[in-house]
Amino acid sequence: MTQELPKAGAVEPYPEPDADAVRDLLLDWCGAEPEDAEDAAAGLAALDGEARELADRCYQSIAADMGGKKWLAWPKPPEAHPLLGLYPLLAAVPGMIRFHRERGVDEDLSRRLLTDVGEKLRLNRRLHGRAGLDVANWFTGHVRGALYQLGRLQFCVEGPEPKPFVGVHIRGEGGPLTLDAVRDSVEWALEFFPTVFPERYDGPDDLVFMCESWLLDPQLRDWLPERSNIPGFGALFDLEGPGDPAGNRSDLWRFVFNRTEDTPVEELPRDNTLQRSVLAGIEAGVPWRNRSGRLNLARLGL
Ligand SMILES: CC(C)(COP(=O)(O)OP(=O)(O)OC[C@H]1O[C@@H](n2cnc3c(N)ncnc32)[C@H](O)[C@@H]1OP(=O)(O)O)[C@@H](O)C(=O)NCCC(=O)NCCS
Repeated sequence: MTQELPKAGAVEPYPEPDADAVRDLLLDWCGAEPEDAEDAAAGLAALDGEARELADRCYQSIAADMGGKKWLAWPKPPEAHPLLGLYPLLAAVPGMIRFHRERGVDEDLSRRLLTDVGEKLRLNRRLHGRAGLDVANWFTGHVRGALYQLGRLQFCVEGPEPKPFVGVHIRGEGGPLTLDAVRDSVEWALEFFPTVFPERYDGPDDLVFMCESWLLDPQLRDWLPERSNIPGFGALFDLEGPGDPAGNRSDLWRFVFNRTEDTPVEELPRDNTLQRSVLAGIEAGVPWRNRSGRLNLARLGL
């Protein structure tokens, strides 16, 4: 996968952030914890020549595809540098802000978007017990201008041309996934995307929202209590396809239990209703699956 990245410096010089810039961006823009900001500043100094070159090449892949769709494939960070992907992302923030400004996106939204970085640093610390950004490439959607957070939900321009569908994504932080919060977000997106991308969408009727997630598994209805928001969210989608028969261990372990995939079932936490419900299903042999679906706007009254 490394071979697919452009060569160092191929598109524009890599403006590698210095330690102060890393710390400041993480604290002021990304809502990161001070310990993650400090470790990231220290991690920069620890990069060797090879790691620096890889960071440069990751940056070039962003610079080469500003305004592109979805997120980019990046190689996994080397063991010794779990934060490697963070530096090219931070270097790309000024370009992202320029892109947003040219398209009339408020700075408030640019800031809101970047708080996802702080969240994923927190998640990495819970998962691995140290600072890291294991899915740094996820943020190439953010900094290339494909992905936006509008209220509770994130939306990303993803599908094939000429009118790419908009992918719906759900952060962990941001409160319960109530139908009102979902409706507000989708209403916003219906107005936002045709305004920001008029060359793609003539109006709200051009928008199709798709989601792929463990949250859409209809089997959850049988295991979660009535008051749970998750089945109500799943029921908003017209499901497509059977889902991966291999199941969704990595997503459930990550998002529900905040544990790495190699954690044995007996060691998973049972701290709340969701964890206890999913575990009861696992113990009963339920084949949990990620499912994909198309948002049915009528079910939101839109
Ligand atoms: C999506 C999400 C915000 C829904 O939260 P919600 O609206 O509170 O969901 P529910 O009402 O169905 O929650 C029911 C119960 O499960 C708990 N719960 C919900 N999501 C949880 C999660 N990810 N991890 C642990 N517990 C969770 C709630 O605290 C509640 O427990 P309680 O009744 O004991 O207090 C939440 O699941 C979440 O943060 N997920 C992580 C991000 C994610 O999975 N994104 C999709 C990636 S594909």
